[in-house]
Amino acid sequence: MKVLVTGGAGYIGSHTCVELLNAGHEVVVVDNLCNSSPGVVERIEFLSGRQLSFHPADVRDLSALDQLLNLHAIDAIIHFAGVKAVAESVVNPAKYYSNNVRGSLTLFEAAARHGIRRLVFSSSATVYGNNQDSPLREHLPRQPDNAYGRGKCMVEEYLTDLSRADPSWHAVILRYFNPVGAHPSGLMGEAPLGAPNNLMPIVCQVADGQRPELAIFGDDYPTADGTAIRDYIHVLDLARGHVDALQAALGNEPGLIFNLGTGQGTSVRELVATFEQVNGVSVPCRIAGRRVGDAAVSYAEVTLAHERLSWRASLSLEDMCRDAWRWQQQNPQGYSRKPLPDLQGHGIADIGIPAHST
Ligand code: NAD
Ligand code: UFG
Repeated sequence: MKVLVTGGAGYIGSHTCVELLNAGHEVVVVDNLCNSSPGVVERIEFLSGRQLSFHPADVRDLSALDQLLNLHAIDAIIHFAGVKAVAESVVNPAKYYSNNVRGSLTLFEAAARHGIRRLVFSSSATVYGNNQDSPLREHLPRQPDNAYGRGKCMVEEYLTDLSRADPSWHAVILRYFNPVGAHPSGLMGEAPLGAPNNLMPIVCQVADGQRPELAIFGDDYPTADGTAIRDYIHVLDLARGHVDALQAALGNEPGLIFNLGTGQGTSVRELVATFEQVNGVSVPCRIAGRRVGDAAVSYAEVTLAHERLSWRASLSLEDMCRDAWRWQQQNPQGYSRKPLPDLQGHGIADIGIPAHST
């Protein structure tokens, strides 16, 4: 298949591009690089041994999308492009409704004009809100607490309405829990422009000495060690879930929504302890107050994706911590500096990628 990947230069998108190319698909990326670097494209091509077509454009630009879709006969779309900082969405909701909602509507309009109605959409566990008990099941009501989550809900509902009105639309909605980790080669990982907000990149920066300590947001939650629980999932498992979801989008079943998580809850303290243990480093911590808007516990019920997509996360918390740290050590400034290894006629296997990447 020829797959258009919006936001393919980003964290989850770049790992998914490698998996799509490895699975034999052709890949076209559109990304405005508002939170990513063009340097990721050569890493994707290096790791897959194949080329992709990259188009720097905004998904809100209908004429740019039209041109691109005239150029490429696209079979299906994986739509990652969007902004994702929950706290920023509270102070700047316009940015979130514009990028995430207007961007999606514009993309779907362009797709329909070109006869493309098969799509995988990046949604989030944030659509469940903070007040429902885990494990969170797909049929629970959507109760988002912020503009980011409300935008994701709007796009989910719009896609559901589209496929009700026109059965030729086949959208698969994926709700990610907490993606962490990096490509096991150490060549691709999370490289946000600006300061990270999420736990794992901050843990890496503390271990690396770029920050003095990790502020743990709350140790008075009703959990065993008092710190909040999340469902961390290796980005490579997540990427592979998209290849499986793409197959589901080729089928004729309407309204498919899947959680992508491991189904396991891990507390902040457990994650930090595992990171220290597997990497032999120290992560100094201090207890800070709870972060406004955080849930105490959030983890997924994952049987639906297993039953319907034959997908299941296989990588452990240890893998996530090891791979995140390898990426951090090899790329302390993100994509800016590191040249690719010179293979000198050898294959990609010769750079020593750990076995779990194959
Ligand atoms: P990311 O910021 O690394 O990647 C998003 C990419 O989209 C970036 O490369 C950015 O430049 C691009 N982009 C943003 N707005 C755009 C626009 N208007 N036009 C074209 N390109 C645009 O983020 P990510 O972690 O890879 O997230 C990908 C998707 O997954 C997002 O939709 C996000 O909301 C969703 N998601 C992420 C998480 C997470 O914790 N990382 C959790 C749940 C859902
Ligand atoms: N945390 C700290 N200190 C930090 C950063 C985070 O203690 O410096 C804690 C948080 O309080 C939370 C846990 O680490 O308990 C995870 O926090 P993240 O910011 O990494 O992730 P969230 O669960 O808050 O949110 C993530 C994504 C959202 C997405 C949500 C559900 O950032 O976009 O998962 O998928 F909506």
